[in-house]
Amino acid sequence: MANIDWDQLRTEAIGAMKRAYAPYSKFPVGVAAKTDDGRIVSGCNVENASYGLGLCAECGLISNLVLGGRSIIKAIYCVDINGNALSPCGRCRQLLWEHSTPDTQFMTPDGPAPLSTLLPWAFGPENL
Ligand code: THU
Repeated sequence: MANIDWDQLRTEAIGAMKRAYAPYSKFPVGVAAKTDDGRIVSGCNVENASYGLGLCAECGLISNLVLGGRSIIKAIYCVDINGNALSPCGRCRQLLWEHSTPDTQFMTPDGPAPLSTLLPWAFGPENL
């Protein structure tokens, strides 16, 4: 997808990362996505004293996405504390998949890649 403003998405992701609540892992994460209707949605990780209940940044992003109208994600940029591209955990790949297309672009440490390469043979709504 040629017309993705990756710099803008990275800036949004860094802004979200700075709002993360990660006192236990000290590993703040931010993520931003561009939707097919031109919105930018973002999220940060939110941890909890009951460690296992922590929410990944992508969980917040998906909540914000659905709250704003259930658009399709076209591009995603997830960052660590240094603003470097961060690969999403397995659970979050599945969360993102539900609201994306196989061609949705994800920024990896090696550059943009289609979501289908991050989650090959994905389970999705069509399997139900
Ligand atoms: N984390 C995310 O927010 N997203 C990911 O895809 C990977 C991990 C968070 C969870 C936890 O708060 C911290 O990073 C360390 O694992």
